[in-house]
Amino acid sequence: MINNERMRKLIEEAECDIEADDHEKAAQKLFQALGMTKQIPDKDLSNKILQKFSEIGIFCLMPQSIELTPIATDGLILDIGGGGEGIIGKLNGKRVVAIDISERELAETQNEAMKVVMDATDLKFLPNSFDVCTSLFSLMYIPKKKHLKVFEEVYRVLRDNGRFLIWEVRIPRLDESYNSCVVPLELRLPNETVETGYGVEVQTQDIKYFKELAQKAKFTIANEWNKDETFHLQLIKIGTKTNLSDL
Ligand SMILES: C[S@@+](CC[C@H](N)C(=O)[O-])C[C@H]1O[C@@H](n2cnc3c(N)ncnc32)[C@H](O)[C@@H]1O
Repeated sequence: MINNERMRKLIEEAECDIEADDHEKAAQKLFQALGMTKQIPDKDLSNKILQKFSEIGIFCLMPQSIELTPIATDGLILDIGGGGEGIIGKLNGKRVVAIDISERELAETQNEAMKVVMDATDLKFLPNSFDVCTSLFSLMYIPKKKHLKVFEEVYRVLRDNGRFLIWEVRIPRLDESYNSCVVPLELRLPNETVETGYGVEVQTQDIKYFKELAQKAKFTIANEWNKDETFHLQLIKIGTKTNLSDL
């Protein structure tokens, strides 16, 4: 069966699941159908899939694709929310200390990182322990009221000139009919492509929001980019011996 027909079939099946009030099954089929739009871009079908998602209270973004390469550092990397696919651990292996609040998420992760169950709002490391901290689509999983504490903790455990690297997605203000937001992602690493989807309760966020948090936590913004609905920030902990021209 060609993909286009398969997509239509999946949407029809999802419609039946919605009628039968089985939203979980419907979401799985819609997610599968959305993944196929990459091979056969069909605007009408894509819109129909997003519409069906909204009928079950899910705000689903179009699939986002980003390229990731190993982080250039000779030091240790602290990865916040490093369970799940464990992407930073896949990229930088044994240099990574992956912390996650969920033991289950860490246990499922396959990479060479050191894995520790820990809350990002209460890091158990001494000050100035890491050269780099990363958060790859993890802050969206942490309630907004805890974000400033996470930034302050990251600032504390970073060495002077240390970098905090953030990859996140823009979540617009949504009406109350939505209860969750899903981001289908294609993460292109040097040796593999990881296809995944991150789903969270709706909480509005954009690059401006994170830049304001960074400034509150005393970080300096060294670099940033936007790509479709995703964005990246590179923040620096400026130390007393930092030479700004070296950044
Ligand atoms: C979906 S993952 C992000 C993707 C992940 N970085 C990867 O490489 O696949 C988000 C993670 O953040 C974790 N998390 C949520 N709240 C946290 C917190 N307060 N401290 C540490 N980790 C947390 C979740 O358990 C989840 O595993």
